[in-house]
Amino acid sequence: MAVVTLLTLTALATLAEPALASGAPWHHPYPGGSSNCSSSALAEFALGKVLNDGAPVFGVYADVQDTTSTWMKAYADNTLIVHMNLPGTHDADTWNYSTATQQSLDHVTQLANITEYNVAAYRCQDLSMLTMLNDGIRVFDLRYAFDVTNTTLVFWHGPGLVSETATVDDVLYGFYRWLDDHPSEALFLSFQYEGSTTPYGRNDAGVQLQLFNTLTTPAARQYFLQTTGSIGTLGEARGKITLLKRFDEDMLPAYYTNALPGIHFSPLNWTDNSPNITLVYNSSTGGTAYIEDYYQPLTPANSTAEENIEWKLNATEAHITMAATTHPNELFWSFASSTNLVNNPPITPAIQALGNGSLTPGGGVNQRLVPFLEGMKGKRLGIVMFDFYEQPAELLPLFLSLLPANGSRGVAGGY
Ligand SMILES: *[C@@H]1O[C@H](CO)[C@@H](O)[C@H](O)[C@H]1NC(C)=O
Ligand SMILES: *[C@@H]1O[C@H](CO)[C@@H](O)[C@H](O)[C@H]1NC(C)=O
Ligand SMILES: *[C@@H]1O[C@H](CO)[C@@H](O)[C@H](O)[C@H]1NC(C)=O
Ligand SMILES: *[C@@H]1O[C@H](CO)[C@@H](O)[C@H](O)[C@H]1NC(C)=O
Ligand SMILES: *[C@@H]1O[C@H](CO)[C@@H](O)[C@H](O)[C@H]1NC(C)=O
Ligand SMILES: *[C@@H]1O[C@H](CO)[C@@H](O)[C@H](O)[C@H]1NC(C)=O
Ligand SMILES: *[C@@H]1O[C@H](CO)[C@@H](O)[C@H](O)[C@H]1NC(C)=O
Ligand SMILES: *[C@@H]1O[C@H](CO)[C@@H](O)[C@H](O)[C@H]1NC(C)=O
Ligand SMILES: *[C@@H]1O[C@H](CO)[C@@H](O)[C@H](O)[C@H]1NC(C)=O
Ligand SMILES: *[C@@H]1O[C@H](CO)[C@@H](O)[C@H](O)[C@H]1NC(C)=O
Ligand SMILES: *[C@@H]1O[C@H](CO)[C@@H](O)[C@H](O)[C@H]1NC(C)=O
Repeated sequence: MAVVTLLTLTALATLAEPALASGAPWHHPYPGGSSNCSSSALAEFALGKVLNDGAPVFGVYADVQDTTSTWMKAYADNTLIVHMNLPGTHDADTWNYSTATQQSLDHVTQLANITEYNVAAYRCQDLSMLTMLNDGIRVFDLRYAFDVTNTTLVFWHGPGLVSETATVDDVLYGFYRWLDDHPSEALFLSFQYEGSTTPYGRNDAGVQLQLFNTLTTPAARQYFLQTTGSIGTLGEARGKITLLKRFDEDMLPAYYTNALPGIHFSPLNWTDNSPNITLVYNSSTGGTAYIEDYYQPLTPANSTAEENIEWKLNATEAHITMAATTHPNELFWSFASSTNLVNNPPITPAIQALGNGSLTPGGGVNQRLVPFLEGMKGKRLGIVMFDFYEQPAELLPLFLSLLPANGSRGVAGGY
């Protein structure tokens, strides 16, 4: 079984498009028939290499089957995605961005004259994306741009280069492999172009074409849900990635925009630093998302960490309350993550999420959300994105426990 899976993934990567278009079964890509031992061994080696290339951003692959890695099994196939509570991670790819990582990439970033900066300003997570998946995180905020040579798409947080070698395509194979191991689960990947990387980095046609190509490879067509502008049921989304497009393909002909599946959250309509965005993602159906992305509290200059945490907590709780009480059939997407780096002293993502010791006796946004979420039992909250989601330890299990699973999955086994 495992060998078949591995073969499938690698074969898809090499399969010519005409073969797919002609309707060849995707699991028998080689003309003339079945694989043999040496080619399946090679497929396994090839997938192992790709997963290894992606490991600096995805994490080192290992199969984990437990109650949190398969929590969606307990929910019925006909559950609407917009009725679920989906935990996510903001700037998910920054989890290993330490001083050691930054120094190990100095020889690359120096090519673009990127100057040293404090890693705490850019780091938003501590645990690998594989660990996030197994802990129950289902929504990932991913930030891409060209590498310093304008050649491949890699992950950044501002001028913080996460890895020079792990490409967006490599990292996607980690998600594909994980879905093969967890077919009951539905994933949501948000892609956003990251600005302020190199001094010359631009969201140009080259970037947009390469992103399009990465999201439409034969493997991507297999693993990304191929619906556009609509959000359906859990049953339809299981074993798949739903693409959340926080980007435009505006440097390319309209064909490219129309050919990409997923939900379009155009940056033009995603109001910057807003606690209350109403974004129509499909003007024909009126499909609407309600979004809180108040990432930098508009506190008075040089305000304290305590004040910044209170402002952010306020905006987050107000939006989550709106999710619990209004528009039951629309998508809600709230960010609990924030920062205020222009403040003096600067307030990092970790200070906002977790507090700053004795200066903030109540902790950060994460600790203060716990009593609030305890009052939300039985409520639909939608997507909530966290920084440092594993702190405090009760936060994620509490979030996942709010909406009890309401019945069997409605299919005859199989996961
Ligand atoms: C198995 O694969 C090898 C290497 O590709 C090839 O030479 C050989 O003919 C294949 N055998 C069968 C039975 O397909
Ligand atoms: C995380 O970063 C450290 C320091 O740069 C590095 O040694 C380690 O290999 C990285 N982890 C992964 C999974 O790449
Ligand atoms: C509960 O199940 C019904 C279908 O039986 C579904 O429509 C609804 O969305 C589910 N709600 C939750 C919160 O799982
Ligand atoms: C980096 O700085 C050096 C010296 O100031 C300059 O010669 C070079 O053109 C700069 N390179 C880039 C890519 O900006
Ligand atoms: C990268 O692309 C940008 C925008 O197209 C261009 O201005 C810049 O010179 C390129 N840099 C390199 C190193 O190729
Ligand atoms: C809007 O939703 C309809 C129905 O799901 C779909 O056919 C159409 O492609 C969507 N439009 C856009 C622009 O996504
Ligand atoms: C922005 O939203 C409006 C409706 O509010 C919609 O008509 C328009 O197409 C959206 N723009 C983009 C680029 O998605
Ligand atoms: C948020 O926006 C909605 C409209 O989309 C509005 O009804 C609501 O009052 C707003 N909430 C706040 C706190 O401004
Ligand atoms: C904020 O702090 C900086 C640095 O100490 C100082 O220059 C600036 O005047 C302060 N701003 C206000 C409004 O106090
Ligand atoms: C928090 O929200 C409450 C009620 O909406 C408001 O009265 C209070 O001023 C807000 N506090 C901050 C710090 O924004
Ligand atoms: C956080 O705490 C450190 C050490 O006590 C202090 O130096 C720094 O100024 C504090 N930062 C904020 C934003 O409160």
